Amino acid sequence: MGRDIVSLDDLTANNIGVFKKINQVTLPTSYPEQWYKDSLKTDQIVKLAYYSELPVGAIRAKTINSSHKFGSYENMLQQQLNPKIVPNAVYIEVFAVLEAYRGLGIGTKLLNYLIEETKKKFIHEVVLHVHVENTASLEWYLKHGFVKSDDILKDYYKSQGLPNPDAFILSLTV
Ligand SMILES: CC(C)(COP(=O)(O)OP(=O)(O)OC[C@H]1O[C@@H](n2cnc3c(N)ncnc32)[C@H](O)[C@@H]1OP(=O)(O)O)[C@@H](O)C(=O)NCCC(=O)NCCS
Repeated sequence: MGRDIVSLDDLTANNIGVFKKINQVTLPTSYPEQWYKDSLKTDQIVKLAYYSELPVGAIRAKTINSSHKFGSYENMLQQQLNPKIVPNAVYIEVFAVLEAYRGLGIGTKLLNYLIEETKKKFIHEVVLHVHVENTASLEWYLKHGFVKSDDILKDYYKSQGLPNPDAFILSLTV
């Protein structure tokens, strides 16, 4: 059987620049240098997606306790889990595929990887925030089984300078 043209690979010090580039050209959110350094830590779920040999997509997620409310995007970035609090969800921070490579199943492959990693941790919920104006991604998540909460997180993306900076909260039971 031939090798799949889409493959996933670990994030390393050698390809972290590519991870940065994919985020920069795809997402409205910018991350500090420390956030990238933290991506190499083993408690993160991070994977890059390659189309043939080209790096074209990425996912990064972390465990959280979803009963904790995140008032803002900064709170989310800075949240340090109290080791006594048991994580009950995996939170997707970054999920991106370069525009020219969308619709080829790369996002689905990254999401399936994340779901498997979530289950390995004996966690059964994946959560994320979506900018209220990011209709294409919202539709994508709904098509992939995510459910939108009735709550809207006001001003979640305010510091990112986005117009209408509110966020939807989506979750998937796995
Ligand atoms: C969301 C994203 C990662 C999806 O990646 P992708 O590689 O295009 O996804 P896939 O190719 O695996 O999608 C496959 C399926 O979704 C469908 N799909 C693709 N785009 C869709 C959309 N906008 N709405 C609904 N369904 C969509 C495809 O038709 C396909 O369906 P099928 O399996 O029934 O044939 C990508 O669109 C992206 O990077 N968006 C911009 C960044 C972003 O907003 N990320 C989320 C931040 S919260």
